[in-house]
Amino acid sequence: MTAPGKGILAADESVATMSKRLEEAGVEPTAENRRRYRELLATAPGLADSVSGIIFCDETLRQTFSDGTPFAEAVTALGILPGIKVDTGAKPCPGLPGETVTEGLDGLPERLAEYAEMGAAFAKWRAVFTITAETPTRGAIRANASALARYAAACQAAGIVPIVEPEVLMDGAHNRGRCRDVTAEVHAAVRAEMALLNVDLAGIVLKPNMVLEGSDYSQQTSPERVAEMTVGVLRSWPDDLAGVAFLSGGQSPERATANLEAMQSHRTPWPLTFSFGRALVSPALAAWRGDPDRIADGQAALIDRVAANGAAARLRGELQPV
Ligand code: 13P
Repeated sequence: MTAPGKGILAADESVATMSKRLEEAGVEPTAENRRRYRELLATAPGLADSVSGIIFCDETLRQTFSDGTPFAEAVTALGILPGIKVDTGAKPCPGLPGETVTEGLDGLPERLAEYAEMGAAFAKWRAVFTITAETPTRGAIRANASALARYAAACQAAGIVPIVEPEVLMDGAHNRGRCRDVTAEVHAAVRAEMALLNVDLAGIVLKPNMVLEGSDYSQQTSPERVAEMTVGVLRSWPDDLAGVAFLSGGQSPERATANLEAMQSHRTPWPLTFSFGRALVSPALAAWRGDPDRIADGQAALIDRVAANGAAARLRGELQPV
């Protein structure tokens, strides 16, 4: 999953989120259009050169390519690992007005067994933290860290690699220092909960946010500073962590790539790569717009971003010869 110069494509938007994005692009939000869009992404020529895995949602994993081959089988044949988002979303957290806890633990071992049977090699669970003057509270951090740990332990019991995604959102007017402090606190809680459940860190991929200023903050942080602060937070993770694959979190595609590139000049014991969603697929969706005659345009737009991020990740080999 964290092979040199490769990253992970997050194409696991929930049915509701994907439908909204299709509608915004002028595409009717049907199951068939969601399927067509995911097939367009997965079959982009050359995708496997820079992508090791694709994360799907439950609906897609149960769908097939237009030739009738199930998605998991079809992408495996293309040299790409199929993954599955197994959380059921961030829901209001009882007792903590305005904060969320990610759900999906009920029946998770059974669902993981079924996904493994369907060919899924890895899974994803996303916890979400919002920065305000009062949040995230210790309660929200602990509740989400505990759920992430149970998810990761359940994945390892099922023989599926967990992607552990604690996302501190960009929304807000906070500065980058606050993002760094919150991200560090969240990571410490996630490590503590995973230790209690004997999660093997050598078998997880961490999917963190980059340390950034809030989207309403006046000044944009340079890639060099983003990289320095982000790697500074990550240094608390042990050397045997399998890898780090960043989310893009609403950054522009170009900024996400520039930041990923800047990360590579820092010597770290684990690879630093991408597991972007929007920063890879937004240009593809905008180019396709549901038009069968524009599939190649959508795929070219995807490959453009994927190749740029693959090249950024490959810089590691040049800057840090082994
Ligand atoms: P973004 O890169 O759009 O933040 O999405 C990544 C992801 O998988 C969110 O769970």
